[in-house]
Amino acid sequence: MASTLITHIGELATNDPERPGTLGAVTDAALVIEGRTVAWVGPAASAPSPDSVDSVVSVAGRAVIPGFVDSHSHLVFAGDRAAEFEARMSGTPYAAGGIRTTVAATRAATDEQLTAHVGRLVQEMQRQGTTTMEIKSGYGLTARDEARSLAVARQFTDETTFLGAHVVPSGPDGEPGDPTAYVELVTGPMLEAAAPHARWIDVFCERGAFDADQARTILAAGARAGLRGRLHANQLGPGPGVRLAAELGLVAVDHCTYLDDADVAALADSGTVATLLPGVEFSTRQPYPDARRLLDAGVRVALASDCNPGSCFTSSLPFCLALAVREMGMTPAEALRAATAGGAAALGRTDVGRLTPGSVADLVVLDAPDHRHLAYRPGVPLVAAVWRSGRPLGPTAGGV
Ligand code: NIG
Ligand code: FE
Repeated sequence: MASTLITHIGELATNDPERPGTLGAVTDAALVIEGRTVAWVGPAASAPSPDSVDSVVSVAGRAVIPGFVDSHSHLVFAGDRAAEFEARMSGTPYAAGGIRTTVAATRAATDEQLTAHVGRLVQEMQRQGTTTMEIKSGYGLTARDEARSLAVARQFTDETTFLGAHVVPSGPDGEPGDPTAYVELVTGPMLEAAAPHARWIDVFCERGAFDADQARTILAAGARAGLRGRLHANQLGPGPGVRLAAELGLVAVDHCTYLDDADVAALADSGTVATLLPGVEFSTRQPYPDARRLLDAGVRVALASDCNPGSCFTSSLPFCLALAVREMGMTPAEALRAATAGGAAALGRTDVGRLTPGSVADLVVLDAPDHRHLAYRPGVPLVAAVWRSGRPLGPTAGGV
């Protein structure tokens, strides 16, 4: 098994709960990779001898962080909605119904076109330091198109989510769809076609999409098919979704923009991770979720991109992290933790989002001395190298 010593690390964020500080950071650090996992982490002064490993990489004082874990994305789609974004920036409000535009384009695309498009977006994510990503369906909305969307997503990640309950699609002549018949389809033949390709099931629980009773029915059907539940909730206004997620003990509930005190208390009591998606508020010109309030109440928080063609077309977690620090009251360390260990928690994972012995060796070398630069230098491409499962990604990733 090949071993590598990465040394001269200015600051190593481990997310090890046994180490002090929000990030369990070690300065003047080193790390040993064996095969695809982390074998040793600690001060460079006590690192294993270079003679004991197959190769040594010096990162010359740069910071090393765990690869980002993006627990929420909608990468399987065709077309874009730049015109909708442009109209929004001149005052047209965001509405859930825009999803139907992308549904038409996605249904018209071939599997090869969808696969090539997802591949490009996955590469875009990786270049910006994301090493684990969740990908949802939700722009097919027929049994066939949801199943093939998930089969496409599965080529890139095991963290695939069936989101047939994204919106009720229009009928063949553009007439409004029948919500009752659609929920029967989602919980019946569509679920049966989708389940073999999915790990999770999600519902857009929001005015204009699905209500709490429908969400409960869909999540229960998903659970019977072996899928774990997650929810989109409280994005566009107050609503019952966050409390439903807490009541059902879901691993994560996403958006969490409009919360009352009872929602916050329910999240703190249940341990359900609140996944915040600040790229959405940026791109829809909405108020940001109050991360400080959630953290102070003891809620576990994740940051994710929500990359999708409608409400937020960014694949960049460094951008989301900078927004979270500037606009949502998070410290740079809290934001980094939320985009790494937080994202892992939102996917029920402990093997990624941290750099501790035994974890997957997914890491990012930053062209910066420490993690604060991610928010301090917004928009600057600070990712110098990305390692995934113990190997450098990309042509230049081996040496920095
Ligand atoms: O997470 N909220 C629902 N789904 C996406 C938006 C989808 C779209 O507008 O195409 C989201 O924001
Ligand atoms: Fe989403």
